[in-house]
Amino acid sequence: MTIISRIPGLGGWSDDPLWASFYDWTVEHPHLGGAIWAAGLQSNLRRLYDAAHELSLLAPGSRVLDVPCGGGVALRGLTPGQGVDYVAADIAQAMLDRTMDAARERRLDDQVTPRIADVGDLPFAGESFDMVVSFTGLHCFPDPAAAVVEMVRVLKPGGVISGSALLNDSGLIHEPIRRVGRVAGLLGPGCTGTEIVHWLAAQGVDVELVRSGAIGYFRGVKRATA
Ligand SMILES: C[S@@+](CC[C@H](N)C(=O)[O-])C[C@H]1O[C@@H](n2cnc3c(N)ncnc32)[C@H](O)[C@@H]1O
Repeated sequence: MTIISRIPGLGGWSDDPLWASFYDWTVEHPHLGGAIWAAGLQSNLRRLYDAAHELSLLAPGSRVLDVPCGGGVALRGLTPGQGVDYVAADIAQAMLDRTMDAARERRLDDQVTPRIADVGDLPFAGESFDMVVSFTGLHCFPDPAAAVVEMVRVLKPGGVISGSALLNDSGLIHEPIRRVGRVAGLLGPGCTGTEIVHWLAAQGVDVELVRSGAIGYFRGVKRATA
């Protein structure tokens, strides 16, 4: 345990640190939060909302995995009564509680099931989801390459994987954020945009990655022959 993680309000995700509440606040406030993203990450927060919007296109009965769900920002892509089976997974119970609060506020709680899960060892059958979303997640995981393998494993052939990550190759300007995040126990080793594309392609996913400042957005389709 680092010295930082012993300071009240700080610590890893499972300690529900103040930073987690601050982060959740920024993603839910397009104007002020968006300004913080633009200033700190040179990234357009609306790009995250646009990626989440793809969830609105899912047909009734579709099964979705959101890992890590965090405070539930991706729920803004769903609509009440859409009839989707949405599994919100995260390693931290406090994040699942926030996601379910957001689901109730958005009248989506009948579609959302919270599930404690480690992305490195997902408790789901192979090829059991039509879509997997993983926004602002890979840089938080201890082994992002293994996380990609797990997320693609549970995705059906023809299914879509969509997500984002703070990239290691976004330039020195973001290095202080990466370093402080790691010392605080909130960020893992991270990865470059090239690594994300390579890891997904190796699992049989045809993928594209678009950069928005420090954040890379990836979207791919799992090939039927993977
Ligand atoms: C920056 S938040 C992002 C959450 C959300 N998708 C978003 O875009 O706002 C990162 C989340 O990763 C979760 N997390 C960290 N390690 C994890 C792991 N090994 N398995 C699952 N979730 C994890 C944390 O609890 C936290 O909720």
